[in-house]
Amino acid sequence: MKIDIVEAKSPKRGSLVVVVGEGGHLGGFGLRADKALGGALTRAMKAAPRFTGAKGQWLEVVSPGGGLSRVLLAGLGKAPEIKAAAYEALGGEAVRRLAVSGETELSIAAEVLKATVLPGAEAAARAALGARLGGYRFDKYRTKLKDREKPSLKVVSVLSEAVPAARKLYQPLDRLADGVTLTRNLVTEPANVIYPASLAAECRKLAKLGVRVEVLGEREMKKLGMGALLGVGQGSDRESHLVVMQWNGGKKGAKPVSFVGKGVCFDTGGISIKPAAGMEEMKWDMGGAGAVIGAMAAIAGRKAKANVVGVVALVENMPSGTAQRPGDIVTSMSGQTIEVLNTDAEGRLILCDAMWYTQQRFKPQLMVDLATLTGAIIISLGHEHAGLFSNNDRLAEQLSNAGKAEDELLWRLPLSEAYDEGLKSPIADMQNIAGPGFGAGSITAAQFLQRFVVEKTPWAHLDIAGTAWSKKDKPTVPKGATGFGVRVLNRLVADYYEDK
Ligand code: BES
Ligand code: MN
Ligand code: ZN
Repeated sequence: MKIDIVEAKSPKRGSLVVVVGEGGHLGGFGLRADKALGGALTRAMKAAPRFTGAKGQWLEVVSPGGGLSRVLLAGLGKAPEIKAAAYEALGGEAVRRLAVSGETELSIAAEVLKATVLPGAEAAARAALGARLGGYRFDKYRTKLKDREKPSLKVVSVLSEAVPAARKLYQPLDRLADGVTLTRNLVTEPANVIYPASLAAECRKLAKLGVRVEVLGEREMKKLGMGALLGVGQGSDRESHLVVMQWNGGKKGAKPVSFVGKGVCFDTGGISIKPAAGMEEMKWDMGGAGAVIGAMAAIAGRKAKANVVGVVALVENMPSGTAQRPGDIVTSMSGQTIEVLNTDAEGRLILCDAMWYTQQRFKPQLMVDLATLTGAIIISLGHEHAGLFSNNDRLAEQLSNAGKAEDELLWRLPLSEAYDEGLKSPIADMQNIAGPGFGAGSITAAQFLQRFVVEKTPWAHLDIAGTAWSKKDKPTVPKGATGFGVRVLNRLVADYYEDK
């Protein structure tokens, strides 16, 4: 599917999307199209009075004349309230509606209605981004698709009256979509395809964008003293890896922004094994690492003027004769010892070493870790918000803002001494889970991580267990791997940490 932004001329074939404001109001382009079609659009709206142009409403007019196969009227709601996100949804939903319809060509008239405060170029660029994100598919393993199930849409043209400006705005968004797509692909791949070594190999491919990539193996990590990370991977036949990705687009020597991702390529739970039902979902347990990799791709792809380092800890958590046992005590790179009471609380064990390493080596100006860390965050927040934990109000606010701007919502939860108490171990510096009945599973997990944050490092932890994948389709997020986190991280850098 090819997406382009072109001059706003009425197409003579294929399908056309026209936007409508609440009350059935057409814009200038829509009015001209209606006239050229002999009033077919106003007639259609009259015949379907429940279509009012409300946000998210669609009305399909088949064979409207003028050589077009269809016109789709897309409601955007009340004009003054229409935001850029509405144009992303427009592009995404338009593509989703026609993707396998048999249609090959789609034009989206991404015009701004009277009383909507949004530059036309921005509307068009966001519609194009939405088309890319909403058009995402993963058909690699579907070898028996019937002809009528195959994607038919070949060309998507976003019509704009500000083509040069819109194209310029779209360029970095196109790279953002590359990053989201990469994350979705990596997270969707099964664990027999994406395992630590093969995921590290995927990271290496970012070198073509100018990212410096280093891959550490078990030998190097042992030398560094990463006993917590290595303990998780020791039951697997597959070697654990730590990947360091550096994008240096900022001032030479300026402290980097750092991102750390949980990359448990498959989480069986280890000896504290998970129930069989639903275990296949644990191929998604590298969603944090996936988001960091996709964000690095987006940031490097658009040549961000910032220094950014991404570190991902890649392991497979398996039960076997060499697996770690409940009660084992491991020594982390920080020197702190951990009693592993539950081998299924493994994410924090790999993150603690990756976070310590990141701070020791890079002295970052901030650190954000992303992890599908706890089932408990789904109990708290469902699938609408990711959990946000931070030792720094400013960073927490920046992330919240970035999340709102990108529709990757975050909700802050508390950290405190009283929660930290739950991790006291009678035999080691800490245990990896709080005792039975303590509750607050997501918070105690975050408290565990905080024990590995050097005091002065502004740090935030995003628990994305409920948002890394989705069971329902949204206009720009088809069900399955969402790529959650890529947009927040990219926006965080763009809005707050980039040289202007
Ligand atoms: N990867 C899981 C968390 C998870 C659960 C993600 C469900 C997505 C959906 C994590 O490693 C885990 O197993 N956490 C345990 C922690 C518990 C043993 C303290 C959990 O949430 O049950
Ligand atoms: Mn687990
Ligand atoms: Zn896990």
